[in-house]
Amino acid sequence: MTLQEEIRRRRTFAIISHPDAGKTTLTEKLLLFGGAIHVAGAVKSNKIKKGATSDFMEIERQRGISVATSVMGFEYEGVKINILDTPGHEDFAEDTYRTLTAVDSVIIVIDGAKGVESQTRKLMNVCRMRKTPVMVFINKLDRPCKDPFDLLDEVEKELQIRVRPLSFPISCGPTFKGVYNIYEQNLSLFLTNEKQTADAETVDVTLDDPALDGYIKPFTRHLKDDIDLVEGVYEPFDREAYLRGELAPVFFGSAINNFGVRELLECFIRIAPSPRSATTETRTIAPEEPKMTGFVFKIHANMDPNHRDRIAFLKICSGIFERNRNYLHVRSGKQMKFSSPNAFMAEKKSIVDFAYPGDIVGLHDTGTFKIGDTFTEGEKLKFTGIPSFAPELFRYIENADPLKFKQLAKGIDQLMDEGVAQLFTSQMNGRKIVGTVGALQFEVIQYRLEHEYGAMCRYEPIQIYKACWIESDNAEQLADFKKRKFANMATDKHGHDVFLADTSYALQLAIEKFPDIRFRFTSEV
Ligand code: G4P
Repeated sequence: MTLQEEIRRRRTFAIISHPDAGKTTLTEKLLLFGGAIHVAGAVKSNKIKKGATSDFMEIERQRGISVATSVMGFEYEGVKINILDTPGHEDFAEDTYRTLTAVDSVIIVIDGAKGVESQTRKLMNVCRMRKTPVMVFINKLDRPCKDPFDLLDEVEKELQIRVRPLSFPISCGPTFKGVYNIYEQNLSLFLTNEKQTADAETVDVTLDDPALDGYIKPFTRHLKDDIDLVEGVYEPFDREAYLRGELAPVFFGSAINNFGVRELLECFIRIAPSPRSATTETRTIAPEEPKMTGFVFKIHANMDPNHRDRIAFLKICSGIFERNRNYLHVRSGKQMKFSSPNAFMAEKKSIVDFAYPGDIVGLHDTGTFKIGDTFTEGEKLKFTGIPSFAPELFRYIENADPLKFKQLAKGIDQLMDEGVAQLFTSQMNGRKIVGTVGALQFEVIQYRLEHEYGAMCRYEPIQIYKACWIESDNAEQLADFKKRKFANMATDKHGHDVFLADTSYALQLAIEKFPDIRFRFTSEV
């Protein structure tokens, strides 16, 4: 197969949802269809169960599972599908955001009873920013749900995207009959006694067919009215608008019952984009370019505390990645080759000889790589748009064991490279400040420093409202600002200036008084 053909047949995407909406279940059913797994229950949920926030065994378990399920590849009807898993717990949202930089499209799962929830809204903001095409799967129709039109309105309003239903449910809960596939003009019947099987029964029957009544009585009239309304209210599906990230096709179903999943998958492989171009600081990289380029979007520590090795996940952006071939690690300027790069098929890892744009390769790492690192065949490129999200919680981090100073420094350094949290150094007194997105990360850091690096840390409170990266073309104003705010100035790990505003009032005042300074709440890696 040519490079072009390999690219065209790839779909790399993530499934995102608020915890409990059914992401794990849907992932598993997609793998079942792809023949990648054969029994339900093979994909473990990587979410930390409720109430288990201090249970470190749970954190370790979660880390183990998420290495195994970080990328799940499978083939379906000649299409190579790569599903990138995202952590369920919202304290790990940063990890999810970064994974979204490596996908070409997204499927959003929404619980039909709950509608759009907070986490979904946040994740959608990232997709909108990146113009990622999204599809929506409204799940759990076997349970009493909100009215489908209300759900569609809610998605449109809350997620700020136009929607177009491509299937429509016939009732829900105990009287759920199935879905009408608007495009194929057929009916998928929901037969509850066929739970967990590979497929639902589909009958070819149009809305005008007298046989329809026999299948979905007493909802025949209702369905016809609903479909009339759909056709009247929603514009015809426009794939270009979907690809621009402006229009979301919507499907209804019940993942646990494997219902509506095939329709979703069939449509997905037809309309979802193959690997798209990626932007770098200097130019746009098209996947068809013959030379290999790729970037590290995730680093994962291995489970075994005796081996501090890690896996760096490299997204191939162009060309063909080959085992044992030299590539330039742009940040260090060194040539590197990989003798055992991993590919991920279903929940298995295997050594791969070639990988193509859209594929994810796992590289063995002994602490050399950072998120955002680029590999090329010689060109000095840096991919942009890999976000480093604004930390919301801050604490001073102190060494609790003077004999283990080196271990602590190394541990902190490596954990920051993994993107667990961000480290700031006060310009005034040199104290180290850790900023995280979720409270759980502080415990994770403490636990991992102890168990993986043999170092002890303790935290001290600090009042910080927000970290803002500051820049200005007005050097005089910048210097003046830094002098006046010296006590609140810090440096991030790349040496950039960061203003740690202690209150929202202080920040507002600073923005007003220093109009030539740009305050950014995220720094790109
Ligand atoms: P998540 O990854 O998005 O967090 O959700 P997950 O798939 O783990 O699903 C959350 C819960 O919702 C699970 O139940 C799962 O069985 C259930 N679920 C998923 N899809 C459907 C559906 O279509 N209908 C119904 N009725 N339930 C569904 P749980 O009790 O939390 O876990 P488990 O004990 O069943 O594993």
